[in-house]
Amino acid sequence: MTVVARAAVLEDVGRPVVVRELELIEPRAGEVRVRMLASGVCHSDLHVRDGEWDRPTPIVMGHEGAGLVEAVGQGVTTPRIGDLVALSWLIPCGVCRWCRRGQVWACPDSPSYRHALLDGETSFRGVRSYCAIATMSSHSVVPAAAAITLPPATDPAVAALIGCCVTTGVGAVLKTAAVPAGRSVAVIGLGGVGLSCVMGAVLAGASRIVAIDRVATKLDVARSVGATDTVLATDDAAATIAALRELTDGGPDYVFEAIGLPATVELAIAALPVGGTAVLVGMTPVGDRAGFEVYRFVDGAKRILGSNYGSAEPSIDFPRYATWSIEGRLPASRLIDRRIALDDIEDAFAAMRRGEYVRQVIDFD
Ligand SMILES: NC(=O)c1ccc[n+]([C@@H]2O[C@H](COP(=O)([O-])OP(=O)(O)OC[C@H]3O[C@@H](n4cnc5c(N)ncnc54)[C@H](O)[C@@H]3O)[C@@H](O)[C@H]2O)c1
Ligand SMILES: [Zn+2]
Ligand SMILES: [Zn+2]
Repeated sequence: MTVVARAAVLEDVGRPVVVRELELIEPRAGEVRVRMLASGVCHSDLHVRDGEWDRPTPIVMGHEGAGLVEAVGQGVTTPRIGDLVALSWLIPCGVCRWCRRGQVWACPDSPSYRHALLDGETSFRGVRSYCAIATMSSHSVVPAAAAITLPPATDPAVAALIGCCVTTGVGAVLKTAAVPAGRSVAVIGLGGVGLSCVMGAVLAGASRIVAIDRVATKLDVARSVGATDTVLATDDAAATIAALRELTDGGPDYVFEAIGLPATVELAIAALPVGGTAVLVGMTPVGDRAGFEVYRFVDGAKRILGSNYGSAEPSIDFPRYATWSIEGRLPASRLIDRRIALDDIEDAFAAMRRGEYVRQVIDFD
């Protein structure tokens, strides 16, 4: 059976994404076909669309999706046909030094980064799949290892978000930084990623959670998911730092940067008290640099951590986060404030550039 997918294709960076009908290959050994139910729009998609990261084209976009498995290739036992799966944008290679010691999130040789199936074949016949999963498509053929089965009661849109922003933000707090209970936390940038850091800080038992954004409506959402305090940021970084110090007895023990701007990376580091940790989650355009004052950093025994995919082990962490969302401990559905159709993708990117909406989610019929 030949399946024709409706897919959001980036023909060339910097050009509008177009929806095209593309023929899919049949899933082969080690591959599955997923009928997509939902795909989030992450700022990483916008980085790719705008050419801020170097990615091959033409490519089917999207890396934050969930759907139902509708066909499996030879020998595939997991997942099974009918499973609700969230797609992981990082498939560990399994053999590099980081994979061998269990740090799969750090795998530099992940086949996902080739944006094709494991043997280099493309599921969309000549058009690549972003991170080998291409979630902005009605259907996608993906490596079975990327499709992680979730409890069937998981809301499909939440399942999609577990594929990127939830895992990235919650994991940055609980896994990368492993914030101990009772510490103070600040989060700069309240999109899907930053608000997931806020939810992670609640789960960690942080004493204060200060949420910062330059868009006032984001501060209200942050309070609704557990922020204890908010700061409306302006271009005056010194004022933001002063407000943060005031709220946290001299500076937050942990500052999460969830935007990806050199100025806010520098703000995160400058706001640290003695012994504080800056956790960099936001991603800048390739090549950007940031600076900090070395003497105060070393003398104050501070730390900077980079957090990729929330230090996720997707097959373990995705079902955990899904269960917490079902139990109400992780209110991930509050992140979703706009439902769109696949054809609205360029409008969604434009809204994201303006700082509108927390998480826009594409619904597939
Ligand atoms: N480390 C990882 O593994 C990983 C995974 C996913 C996404 N990311 C990155 O995380 C970042 C955030 O992603 P997102 O989808 O949540 O983005 P988003 O665009 O939805 O959210 C960014 C937020 O930052 C706010 N903001 C922008 N400039 C600001 C400023 N100067 N001061 C204060 N607030 C400001 C915006 O109003 C918005 O609320 C992106 O760079 C993305 O590429 C990293
Ligand atoms: Zn993402
Ligand atoms: Zn590896």
